[in-house]
Amino acid sequence: MAGLSRLAMLGAGHLGPVVARLAIKAGYPVDIAASGDPEDIALITELMIPGAQPRWAADAVADADIVVLAMPLHRFQDLDPGLLSGKLVIDAMNYWPATDGVVQAFEDGGSSEIVARRLAGSAVVKALNHIGYHELEERARPAGAPDRGAVGIAGDDPVAVAAIAALAYRIGYDPVRLGGLRAGRVLQPGGPVFGVVLTRPEFERAVLEEAVREEAVREEAVREEAVREEARSLS
Ligand SMILES: NC(=O)c1ccc[n+]([C@@H]2O[C@H](COP(=O)([O-])OP(=O)(O)OC[C@H]3O[C@@H](n4cnc5c(N)ncnc54)[C@H](OP(=O)(O)O)[C@@H]3O)[C@@H](O)[C@H]2O)c1
Repeated sequence: MAGLSRLAMLGAGHLGPVVARLAIKAGYPVDIAASGDPEDIALITELMIPGAQPRWAADAVADADIVVLAMPLHRFQDLDPGLLSGKLVIDAMNYWPATDGVVQAFEDGGSSEIVARRLAGSAVVKALNHIGYHELEERARPAGAPDRGAVGIAGDDPVAVAAIAALAYRIGYDPVRLGGLRAGRVLQPGGPVFGVVLTRPEFERAVLEEAVREEAVREEAVREEAVREEARSLS
């Protein structure tokens, strides 16, 4: 499978090695980095991710076509955005106040939209964040398997989204394109598809039901505001 994009996996904790293994199995060349010296992850890489190259993050990124952010969100704040400039970036991170601390900006909105604003020179795609690392590996299936799971993909750059959808497909999942990064909020913790592996029809139904629920809440808010406005005008 020569010719597949080269991946830089930034994070060698729980998620990074799993995505690295799946990608290597699918034929992608993978470099993996933690926050420091590659020597520190050399043994674990050899044992747990055969085929991956442990590297300094900057070197892995420099040679990569696709960079996977598999580090805690609060550690991302220390990453130099210039390092990722011009790269296609998968944001697989989630905002967890318990580990990331309470960050108001993340409380109020979509974490990948904030990540993308910081990485203005990169094409950011939200993906691979909504399935636990164990399940991600265990539930990967060949195309056509009846219980093959779905992975949601959201991004503002259609070419980048297509590349990541192809990656998701190759590593064992049916990609579901949700739209821009804003639409990717359904993939976040608390969302309808977070933490469960769903087949494509189940996934699409869950996202649709959430959209209907949100619309009902919006309509109710508009109705309540109209009632308040009327009461104010009568008083
Ligand atoms: N765990 C899951 O099941 C899962 C599933 C989907 C998404 N996620 C998301 O993925 C992210 C990572 O989760 P995790 O559970 O894998 O975390 P983790 O086990 O704590 O691993 C974090 C890894 O990130 C590395 N790292 C930190 N700063 C870095 C930097 N600047 N450059 C390169 N690597 C760096 C750490 O390296 P050092 O040891 O050198 O600090 C460590 O290898 C989180 O945002 C999480 O929400 C997790």
